[in-house]
Amino acid sequence: MECLTLPPKNLIKGFVHGKSHSTILQLCTRQLRTCRNPYQILNKGNKLTSKLNLPLSRLIQPLRQTTTISKTNPEISLRAQKIVGGWLIGCAGMCFGAVILGGVTRLTESGLSMVDWRLLKDMKPPQNLQEWEEEFEKYKQFPEYKYVNAQHEMSLSDFKFIFYMEYGHRMWGRLIGLAFLLPGAYFLKKGWISKGMKPRMLALTALLGFQGFLGWYMVKSGLEEKQKETDIPRVSQYRLASHLGSAFILYSLFLWSGFTHLLPYNKIEFTKEMRRIKGMAHGMKALIFITAISGAFVAGLDAGLTYNSWPKMADRWIPTDMWNIDPKWKNIFENPTFVQFNHRHLAESTVLLIAGFWWMCRKAPLPPRARMAVNALLAMSIIQASLGITTLLTYVPTPVAATHQSGSLVLLSIAVWLTHELRRIPK
Ligand code: HEM
Repeated sequence: MECLTLPPKNLIKGFVHGKSHSTILQLCTRQLRTCRNPYQILNKGNKLTSKLNLPLSRLIQPLRQTTTISKTNPEISLRAQKIVGGWLIGCAGMCFGAVILGGVTRLTESGLSMVDWRLLKDMKPPQNLQEWEEEFEKYKQFPEYKYVNAQHEMSLSDFKFIFYMEYGHRMWGRLIGLAFLLPGAYFLKKGWISKGMKPRMLALTALLGFQGFLGWYMVKSGLEEKQKETDIPRVSQYRLASHLGSAFILYSLFLWSGFTHLLPYNKIEFTKEMRRIKGMAHGMKALIFITAISGAFVAGLDAGLTYNSWPKMADRWIPTDMWNIDPKWKNIFENPTFVQFNHRHLAESTVLLIAGFWWMCRKAPLPPRARMAVNALLAMSIIQASLGITTLLTYVPTPVAATHQSGSLVLLSIAVWLTHELRRIPK
């Protein structure tokens, strides 16, 4: 067992000194996981196979555990790659949390309670009654307070609730920034970030900043005076969809990069059929993303509060008020009826296409993890559509709507996982 801590040369000596095959394999696995250059050991291991009377395939079995990164960057230790992978998946998990928190903030109508944006000052919430009253006074100058207060009087404790919701969402965003940048800088310094990952880290940093900017740009649209007194103050659906879309992209990038560090390659023969399956898997991923963006338009216009019936909209397949707005193209994005029509039919088509894709994959020679992903994709798409229908039929209660929103991210994650499983081994 003392071999575990010894350098490769001594490990090999250990082989020669007549250890049992299973011990050798165990040592080999452990050593490969922690050594700096697994390929070096592998080459030496090659020479040993004759002495040990072991097939090389058994000796290199542990190398099957190596990740995408280790194939292209053998100089980074496997342990380091696993740590970096875990950190990236952690960042993806935090983005997932931010999306849920953002959804609940919107559903509880809390998103417009902080009426300005300061990177550092915002981090300290009001400390005493006077500061709370000052913050409340600021909020009272904006249309949302006037609208809500006209329905039912808003107390300071009501205000505190919506303030803390938005505060939590903003702080969570800053925490993601820290959780990404601080360990990222450390890993860079240690040389644990691969060459290919460096530009991606830059892109992720830029996207994180952009996400914060889009968040404030969206809130600003909800603080502007509305044209008519009766108009409900709400953020622009275009900006809401952009904020949600960029969060989904950020999340997917974190997830993909994490998988690249943690998941080993699949050995796939890319026949015509497999190339078609791979292309379709990417298509499903894009379709899920587009359906999710169309859902953000439904959320932004509160379009889930009209036509609360399924499968028909009231008693029609095509409602009569779909073209009310001029110019006509605006109906696609600004008419709640049209927006809901789009989302439900896009969603239904997505589920049907995923079912067709699943059927097509049944007899294909998929590796086990990819097969699992295809099955999970079908199951989750059905769950997600059922959640959407329930949200609609029950008039958008916060817990159901928030679950429907997170469901879309789970579905997208499965599609990201599937496409990752179908990657080619670089030459
Ligand atoms: C593949 C299936 C689906 C996906 C990926 C999806 C995705 C989404 C997303 C991302 C949102 C925005 C949530 C937010 O920003 O808070 C949303 C909202 C919504 N979706 Fe879906 N959806 C799907 C299926 C459906 C179906 C089949 C229906 C009903 C027929 C539906 C009804 C709704 C409603 C009513 C909302 C608005 C909820 C709110 O105001 O918070 N969805 N959807």
